[in-house]
Amino acid sequence: MSHPEPRKNVTLLMGSPRRNGSTHLLVQEAARALHDQGVATQEVFLDDLTIHDCRGCHGCKQEHNGRCVVQDDMQRVYRMMESSGGLVVAAPVYFGYVPAMTKAWLDRLVPYIGMDMSPTFPGSCPVSFIFVQNMPDPSLFEPALRSFTDAVAMSGLDVRECLVATDCEMGAKPPVTERPDLMERAYALGRDLIAMRPEAKNEF
Ligand SMILES: Cc1cc2nc3c(=O)[nH]c(=O)nc-3n(C[C@H](O)[C@H](O)[C@H](O)COP(=O)(O)O)c2cc1C
Repeated sequence: MSHPEPRKNVTLLMGSPRRNGSTHLLVQEAARALHDQGVATQEVFLDDLTIHDCRGCHGCKQEHNGRCVVQDDMQRVYRMMESSGGLVVAAPVYFGYVPAMTKAWLDRLVPYIGMDMSPTFPGSCPVSFIFVQNMPDPSLFEPALRSFTDAVAMSGLDVRECLVATDCEMGAKPPVTERPDLMERAYALGRDLIAMRPEAKNEF
């Protein structure tokens, strides 16, 4: 059955620098589910961009327009996020947390948090997360990853599902494409991002 015009555009923010690594393959599976619904996706590798650290300058507050004053590639990411119907943020676990570029992206969400800590991200935008780690125990880094998703939620992005893919080490362990459990969960994450089942909200 052919789909009419894509309903919405979803931005896939890639926190792993590795193309066709475990994180990328799982994101592609989530994207497949979105495409099956007629939803277009745009993939962004944060590592391809120049995203400076947040200066903590509060320029985004002084301008009274909520805009970051640092002129780098994050300006493009802001535009993409604000024009998207949803986001998938995906990252490998590096030393118990997200890689540096993903943390830089998080810090640069400060313009979406008011001085009174109120969220200001415009409109409603669901975001789901894919984290990938080598260690088999999914609870190992959960507090740190929860802290990351909670921080994203402070912006007003609507935090939905979180997939923690464990026991993944490209080249040393079976690829995620041979892990039907992970592939199914990645597909479901993409499928449910926009057409969300209420009971699946904000779960690790
Ligand atoms: C610098 C670095 C630090 C890492 N730290 C952890 C870690 O703390 N815990 C863990 O389980 N895996 C860790 N890993 C393994 C990666 O999370 C794992 O290989 C992941 O599947 C990489 O995803 P990718 O294939 O998308 O790059 C680390 C890998 C690198 C390169």
